[in-house]
Amino acid sequence: MSVLIVIGSTRPVRVGRQIGETLISTLQQVEGLDASLVDLAELNLPFLDEPLMAATGHYAHAHTRKWAQSITAADGVVFVVPQYNFGYPAPVKNAIDYLFHEWKNKPTAVISYGSHGGRQSYDQLVQVLQFVGTDLIEPGVHITLPRDAYGPDGRLQDTGAALAPYLHQVRALGSAVLERMSSPCERPQISLVPRAADQLGAQFLEAFNTHNPEALAGLFHEHAQFVDVMGHTFEGRAGIEAGHHHVFAGPLARASLTMESQRSHRLGASTVLVEVRWSSTGHDLTQFTEVAVPVRRHGLLVLVATKPDPFTGWAIERSYNTDFSLATTHAEAH
Ligand SMILES: Cc1cc2nc3c(=O)[nH]c(=O)nc-3n(C[C@H](O)[C@H](O)[C@H](O)COP(=O)(O)O)c2cc1C
Repeated sequence: MSVLIVIGSTRPVRVGRQIGETLISTLQQVEGLDASLVDLAELNLPFLDEPLMAATGHYAHAHTRKWAQSITAADGVVFVVPQYNFGYPAPVKNAIDYLFHEWKNKPTAVISYGSHGGRQSYDQLVQVLQFVGTDLIEPGVHITLPRDAYGPDGRLQDTGAALAPYLHQVRALGSAVLERMSSPCERPQISLVPRAADQLGAQFLEAFNTHNPEALAGLFHEHAQFVDVMGHTFEGRAGIEAGHHHVFAGPLARASLTMESQRSHRLGASTVLVEVRWSSTGHDLTQFTEVAVPVRRHGLLVLVATKPDPFTGWAIERSYNTDFSLATTHAEAH
């Protein structure tokens, strides 16, 4: 199983690389563990420059894809981070923020170091790793580097001696990481519980009843799909908006929807299915069908909504509308 050690300091004169290299050989001693190293100084990611949020999974830049591949390919990740001013270095946060889905359930551990063990750096990083959904393995290791461990050049004079008191903890951590990687468990994620998923049906009806195509399309993801009761398929938010401009100006100009009932089913942490039973009046569907359409129609609108990340609201991915009254009328006509 492969574990990736991420060296979290990028200063030109630093000890992070020395520590990382020593820890690699220590972790290699754990049977079954194949350790490799990524040095954030060499990776040289710019400050986050992706146009879209990582949660969308769309990466515009090669440097992002390369970094994402490193994390995806690793069975586990060990962050080796110094403490700077009571926290962990900015390049580590930057590197984490570049990705999203890659972190889910990824076994991770943290080894901190500093003049006093880097405990605050550790604590802060752990919070973020938990938030992004990694499978954090604790306890980590906190390495205290006394002043006299450094030479006049700012590097560790004897890395082996400085780290010797901690190597048994590092090996134990390596074993724990190996064990977790060998039997990954689906740990509960930070809940992406809807704050407004239950309101999607009502919002849809409100946009419909005010004949507002922009508002209606605004409830959908950019690449959503909407299939109406006649089987017309509107592709994307733009298509949904254009389609509703058309129908609100014509056959549905006086149409009004009433919500009869609504049910939501959670399909996963970030997916919800909303069923809206509706009735409708004021339509003029003569241009679409020759069958007699009742004055009050009844149907079922199914919305599949997702919340791709914790920061944006729920939006509709797929929407299918069914008209029970049309089906009945049609069946009777045959
Ligand atoms: C900007 C800066 C802030 C620091 N703040 C702390 C601190 O809050 N607590 C601590 O124990 N050590 C602190 N140190 C000491 C570092 O942990 C120590 O210099 C360590 O070698 C830094 O890792 P690096 O050489 O890999 O960059 C700080 C060092 C720097 C450069």
